[in-house]
Amino acid sequence: MVSNKDNTEQVQDDTDSMGFEFIQETNPEIERLQEENKILQDTLVQLKYELDRVRQPPLMVCEVVEELDDGRVVIRTPNGNNFLVNKITDKLALTSNDTVYCDQKNLSILEIGSKSKKFNVEQFVIIEKPNIKWSDVGGLSVQVEEIKEVIELPLKKPEIFKKIGIKPPKGVLLHGPPGTGKTLLAKAVAAATKSTFIEIVGSELVMKFIGEGSKLVKEVFDLAREKAPSIVFIDEIDSIAATRIETGTSGEREVQRTFMQLLAEIDGFNNLDNVKIIGCTNRIDILDPAVIRPGRLDRLIKVDNPTDEGIQEIFKIHTQNMSIKKGTSFEKIYAQMSGFSGAEIQAVATEAGYFAIREKHTIITEQDFLRAIEKVRRNEKDEDFGRMFG
Ligand SMILES: Nc1ncnc2c1ncn2[C@@H]1O[C@H](COP(=O)(O)OP(=O)(O)O)[C@@H](O)[C@H]1O
Ligand SMILES: [Mg+2]
Repeated sequence: MVSNKDNTEQVQDDTDSMGFEFIQETNPEIERLQEENKILQDTLVQLKYELDRVRQPPLMVCEVVEELDDGRVVIRTPNGNNFLVNKITDKLALTSNDTVYCDQKNLSILEIGSKSKKFNVEQFVIIEKPNIKWSDVGGLSVQVEEIKEVIELPLKKPEIFKKIGIKPPKGVLLHGPPGTGKTLLAKAVAAATKSTFIEIVGSELVMKFIGEGSKLVKEVFDLAREKAPSIVFIDEIDSIAATRIETGTSGEREVQRTFMQLLAEIDGFNNLDNVKIIGCTNRIDILDPAVIRPGRLDRLIKVDNPTDEGIQEIFKIHTQNMSIKKGTSFEKIYAQMSGFSGAEIQAVATEAGYFAIREKHTIITEQDFLRAIEKVRRNEKDEDFGRMFG
C-alpha cells in the first residue's frame, strides 16, 4: 500500500470514505488472526522456555560442609571431594549439612535443596549407663587387664599420661567368635569409668540409614563429646569397614562414605578427650586394615572361647542365684561344656532353670544341667545347619 509521508492524509481519507463497510466486514477475520497470532506467540514463548529447561545441564546434588565469612562455601560433592565455591546469590542462607544443587562445571550453588534434617541421633542409637561389674565377666582376666589399661586408666587418670608424655590409644578393637563376652567387657569398662555407653551396630547403620550413615556417625561423635566421659561402642564394625571388591554401586559408595566419616571422626579427636572407641568384630579376617592403623583402634584384644577354668568361672557367675542340689558333679557338667562360648554357658543355666520349672522343682539337679547342655548343643548344631543351608 501507500507508504510515503505525502500520501498519509490520502490513505486516511480513503479509509474514511470508502472503507467503512469493508472494514466492518473483515474485522472479525483480523481479530481471529490476531487472536491466533497471540496464541502462537504464547506457545512459542512456552516452547522456548521448555527448550531452555531441557537444554540445562543437570545440577549436581552436594552437601554443605561450611560457609565461610566471605560468603564462599565449602561443599562436598557426591564422590566425597570438598570444593570451595560461590553461591549464585547472597540470599541463600546455608548451614552445614544442607543439600544444595550446584552447576556441574563451576560448582556454583544455584539452589538450595533440603535444609539439613538434624535428626535426633538419640533416637537411633542405644545410650545407657551400664551396670555390669568386672565380677560379671568370667575367664577373661588378661583381656580385662588390657582394657583397664587402655580405656579405664586414661579416662580416670589422664594426668598420668600427660606427666609421662605418652598418648593413650583412642580405642581398642575387640575381636573373636560370637558370644564370648566382647559386649560385656565394653559395658563393664563403661560402668567402671561411669561413662555414657553409646552403641551403634555396623549392619544397622548400613541397612537403616541409607544416605544418612555418615551423618549419623558424625552426630554420634558429637553426642559422645557432649556426654563425655563416654565410650562409643561400634558392634559389627566389619559391616562398614570390610575390605571389599569395588563394585561401584551407590550402596557401596554410601558404606564407603560412612566408613570415611568414621575414620575422620577417629582421627579428629584428641587422645585425651574423654571419649574412647571400642570396635567389635567376629570377622577380623575381612576388616579393612585402615581401622587398626596407628592412631586409630590400634590396640587389638582377642576374646576367645573360655578355657576349662574360664568355663567354671562363667558357669559360677550365671548360676550364683540358683539353688543347686547337693552332690551335683560339677566336674561332669564342666567337661560337657568344653568348647562352649560364654553365651552358651549362660544359656545352659537358663535352660536348666526351665527344665526345673517344667518338672516343678526349684532346686536344680545335675540332670537339669545335663539336659540343658544337650539342648544348647543341639541349638548350636541347628544354627550351623541353618547357616550352611539357609
Ligand atoms: N566371659 C563371659 N563371662 C560371663 N558371661 C559371658 C561371657 N561371655 C558371654 N557371656 C554371656 O553371654 C552374653 C552375650 O555375650 P556378649 O558379650 O554379647 O558376646 P559378644 O559380644 O562377644 O558376641 C552376655 O550378656 C553374658 O551373659
Ligand atoms: Mg556382642
